[in-house]
Amino acid sequence: MSDHPALAALTPRLARIPTLDQVQLDAEEIAVLGRKAGALTNLLKELPQLDPDERRRVGAAANELKARFEAAIAERRVALVHAARAKVEAAVDSSMPGRRRFTGSIHPVTQVVDEILGIFKELGFVRAVGPEAETEWNNFRALNFPENHPAMDQHDTFYLDTGDRRSAEIDRRRGRTSGLFPTNERRQSESDRRRPQDGRTLLRTHTSPVQVRLMQEMQPPIRAVMPGVVYRKDPFDPSHAPAFLQIEGLAVDEGISFVDLKGTLQHFARRFFSARTQVRFRPSYFPFTEPSAEMDVQCQLCGGSWCPACKQTGWMEIMGCGMVHEQVLKNVNIDPEKYTGFAFGMGPQRIALQRYGINDIRLLYSGDMRFLTQFSL
Ligand code: PHE
Repeated sequence: MSDHPALAALTPRLARIPTLDQVQLDAEEIAVLGRKAGALTNLLKELPQLDPDERRRVGAAANELKARFEAAIAERRVALVHAARAKVEAAVDSSMPGRRRFTGSIHPVTQVVDEILGIFKELGFVRAVGPEAETEWNNFRALNFPENHPAMDQHDTFYLDTGDRRSAEIDRRRGRTSGLFPTNERRQSESDRRRPQDGRTLLRTHTSPVQVRLMQEMQPPIRAVMPGVVYRKDPFDPSHAPAFLQIEGLAVDEGISFVDLKGTLQHFARRFFSARTQVRFRPSYFPFTEPSAEMDVQCQLCGGSWCPACKQTGWMEIMGCGMVHEQVLKNVNIDPEKYTGFAFGMGPQRIALQRYGINDIRLLYSGDMRFLTQFSL
């Protein structure tokens, strides 16, 4: 190349360029080609001081070396980019399944409640609600419970001490928020003004008092479903909870018979479970219905061929039902000569347990993500 000492010193550095990493390469580029103090730049700046012959020789060699440095550095840059990309690609396993983000989901019980209300909505049943703090009259007496019925006992029912200030506040709110239909403008209904026969205040033990409120407020035809929380002094164990959901149903009109009850509830079971689900009605007793029955559906887990979930019977109890008792109609001033009706009550949590084969009701209250994520759609 050239015998100029600067050129002789630079030539071996050219050979090392393909081995440099990114940082070293940047440093080398500045050291050799840097505009202010690069070795080659300096050499080129010194050229005018050389005699013409040497100037031509060294100049040509320096320019050629500069071109080769530039080419080698550019080539090394491309190689480094390729190497970095290959390293990332080697680290990514494109066959690995994607990570799914949990976005929240509707609680299984809410899903069941929505489905049940949706089926009855198709049948023309409207939704109504009542307060959780009730009068003894609405919860028991109007529903034909005899004076000393055991269900009214302190062991089963939570009574509210209305003597103190907090209970008075509950009473006041009860009056304010007891509109039967969930609207923005809630007015105080007739049944919220205390009467002598109202008796003590309690936490409702079932949703049947909403039937009473509804029938007091309107004349037939009535078709309504009434979801809500009810309270009983039960232990919190695999099959009981002290606060749980019920969905009440009521249909009152001229000429309603037990055939309508059976047809409606069988239709419900086939819509909710499956088109071929068998149902059966067993005689039962409730003070507010006559005759009364329990409706069973074929066990959803074993299909009727006996399993522990249906206690080896092949059937699961879904709800209580019956024809509205004549005395109840009289209690709410509906003429039993003209009108008849049927009523039913079910526990959507119990239905959710049966439907999904869950063996402990407490799971439904737990908020345990390992449980809940199984129900996200
Ligand atoms: N209220 C009853 C209960 O809680 C269920 C029911 C409702 C039965 C309506 C008949 C008619 O067990």
